[in-house]
Amino acid sequence: MASTTMTDEARYEELDRYIADLPDHKGSLIQVLHVAQDLFGYLPQDVQMHVARKLALPAAKVYGVVTFYSFFNTEPRGTYTVSVCLGTACFVRGSEEILKEFEKQLKVKSDQTTPDNLFTLTTIRCVGACGLAPVVMVNDRVYGRVTAKDVASIIDDCMAKGGSENG
Ligand code: FES
Repeated sequence: MASTTMTDEARYEELDRYIADLPDHKGSLIQVLHVAQDLFGYLPQDVQMHVARKLALPAAKVYGVVTFYSFFNTEPRGTYTVSVCLGTACFVRGSEEILKEFEKQLKVKSDQTTPDNLFTLTTIRCVGACGLAPVVMVNDRVYGRVTAKDVASIIDDCMAKGGSENG
């Protein structure tokens, strides 16, 4: 998640420095977008346009890549991104019920962020941990064999840490 102490101006400067050091501008789009997302927390249109200009690429190409890959976000995210896996192994072990429980307890639907900006709820398709199905990820942390009953304690874990975790 973006550092809250940096101004947008400083973020753009850091991004420009990173781009200036790249040996191959046009072939580095995904890499640059990752850096931009780390700096800004997400990829709003202004940032996408800036990247397009700096890499001398059409804005439509940048937009196409941003929307194609699920790890890029065009909307701001909460401190904690709760990702419920709906891949086959997790789905057959009841991950849909877990998703519903998160929706109920956080009072948001999938791909929405809570009004306090603490949680964004989302879904993913297989994170390669099928042996632990059903799987929920909170930022980089994997919770395995989750049941609907565990949802409250996963939320409590995050609330206990408050807004201090970088995601
Ligand atoms: S299907 Fe969920 S981790 Fe593979």
